[in-house]
Amino acid sequence: MAAPETPTVKPDNFPATYPPLIPTEPQLLADDSYEQFVSAPKIVAVDTELARRIPTVTKKTLLDNGTGTGAMIIHAHEQGKLVHPFKVVGVDPDTKALDKAKAKLAFLGDAVELIEGKSEDLPVPSESVDVIIHANSSHLAKPIQKAFSESFRVLKPGGEYHMIMAYEKKRSYAEGMEGRAWGLWISLVREYLMERKGYKKEQFQSPVDLRQHTEEEMVQMLKDEGFVELETEFVDVDMGPEEFVGIGNYHDFAEGALPGIPVEDAREALVKTVPALFRRLNRDHEKDPAKPAVVKSTRRWFFVKAKTRCSGNIK
Ligand SMILES: C[S@@+](CC[C@H](N)C(=O)[O-])C[C@H]1O[C@@H](n2cnc3c(N)ncnc32)[C@H](O)[C@@H]1O
Repeated sequence: MAAPETPTVKPDNFPATYPPLIPTEPQLLADDSYEQFVSAPKIVAVDTELARRIPTVTKKTLLDNGTGTGAMIIHAHEQGKLVHPFKVVGVDPDTKALDKAKAKLAFLGDAVELIEGKSEDLPVPSESVDVIIHANSSHLAKPIQKAFSESFRVLKPGGEYHMIMAYEKKRSYAEGMEGRAWGLWISLVREYLMERKGYKKEQFQSPVDLRQHTEEEMVQMLKDEGFVELETEFVDVDMGPEEFVGIGNYHDFAEGALPGIPVEDAREALVKTVPALFRRLNRDHEKDPAKPAVVKSTRRWFFVKAKTRCSGNIK
């Protein structure tokens, strides 16, 4: 018998529908970090939703796996989940991002420690952490199973693992939207690079596909590591122009979208083509304003909660 589909929900805290606004001239930022994307309204909403789901961390340690510029730690704090005394450890391989996180999190003082490292080889002792946040970065672990096994190793008995990602293999787009905006965007970006920067068609390679595993595969991997009480959910996130500009500006995304193209050109083309992308998505509406404006591309975030056994982490 086929397993029942995991339900898709929209959390209560999501902002209402997007204003039908197409930016005229989005600016490429000097800062090519994840910062702009993570500040876009719908990404704030999905990350806040995760922060709401973690338990309160007091006399406990929270590990933010792939912390980047520390956005999830800020959300956890804003949701009242960090209550002194507590400890937060942020791990990320990108030292530039960690420098930003350090500045942003200075107000939390000694309670925060930021360490260079990868989720596949966590620089953290075994059974030393109560709660793990693994937000928007598990898809970058090579392989993801090693990140799961390391998370299991560092969690104390009864610890909680909370993961979100936008790269579940079968369900990362809402029905009817499978890659539509994404495919269109890439073709507009290639046109931009050919027309304005003199690139040739042959120079373009296929974008890197980060969707490696299905929900079922990831659940099985987590169970194989010894995790119990698994809960999964899909959350629809209506990405609008602001989110597209934010992600296009991010250097890691630009490198994956346009492999082999210098990242500055890739970022410029991605950011500058967002208005054209939304005008194309809105073609029917522009011709006939009675038709609804398409001001979003719905992406599905995959949420996982898992625990270690209370009596000890025996596989
Ligand atoms: C899309 S950002 C997400 C940052 C943050 N978790 C958030 O949601 O705001 C992905 C982060 O994962 C980091 N990363 C890349 N490879 C990683 C790995 N193997 N282990 C841990 N983090 C990794 C990147 O440096 C980047 O900071």
